[in-house]
Amino acid sequence: MDLIHTVSKLQEAISALRTSGKTVGFVPTMGALHAGHLSLVKQCLIDNDICVVSIFVNPTQFNNKEDLVKYPRNLERDSRYLTQAGVSIIFAPSEEEVYPEPDTRQFDFGQIDKVMEGKHRPGHFNGVAQVVSRLFDIVKPDKAYFGEKDFQQLAIIRAMVKQLALHVEIVAMPIVRENSGLAMSSRNERLTAEQKEIAINISKALFQSKIWVGDYSVQDLVKKVVETINSFDGLDVEYFEVVDGYSLQSIADWSEANYVVGCIAVYCGEVRLIDDIVYIKA
Ligand code: PAF
Repeated sequence: MDLIHTVSKLQEAISALRTSGKTVGFVPTMGALHAGHLSLVKQCLIDNDICVVSIFVNPTQFNNKEDLVKYPRNLERDSRYLTQAGVSIIFAPSEEEVYPEPDTRQFDFGQIDKVMEGKHRPGHFNGVAQVVSRLFDIVKPDKAYFGEKDFQQLAIIRAMVKQLALHVEIVAMPIVRENSGLAMSSRNERLTAEQKEIAINISKALFQSKIWVGDYSVQDLVKKVVETINSFDGLDVEYFEVVDGYSLQSIADWSEANYVVGCIAVYCGEVRLIDDIVYIKA
């Protein structure tokens, strides 16, 4: 395994592999790796000759400075996990390597970044698009892997790839959950043992709500999920929306879309957790 910190060294290593006809898969991450990331890596290693994983906590996507400071970082542990998983190249650049000049690009994603995460974290998706497009430009992967836990992020990245006409295939991988049902997230590291117990009630309520589809109106289901989660001390729902899985716009009636997903953000103490559930996929 090569741990590389500079763009020039990375491109040297990749071009050497490319000349021998190898395909390159890419998993961009912000580190603090868990089984969710490793599922992306596993698929990447199956689909491609080599797997490049980047570890970079991107400042431009944090609209909350404290969140950026508190974001868990552990390069040594991450490198160990990735080596065990069989990753050939880890790219862990500095901020100056990724942004030699400040990135002032403003993306226009229409309505898909005006809702949910986009509405509650202004500028977040612009920062994600900046860093992912920059990393794609550096790595030039054939395929890149993202988790469905960040459901809206996936839609933004697909839109960005289309807008910039990039030649990279985006591969989406399902949410990986702890045995308790809690969606794997680097932010779970910030939860106390007690908070982790409480946080289980987020996915529990989402799973339970699946049986209400059709029997309850969309509005009643939303109300019931929010009330259930908020009834636990220490949980505070920021939003829960039932949306068309393609346009990400809220639906008012179950018959409005053939791909329907519930997306939620919940504060567990100070830690903001997101999760989602597919209600209908025709
Ligand atoms: O999902 C993440 O971890 C980040 O948003 C990403 C895609 C690595 C960009 O910084």
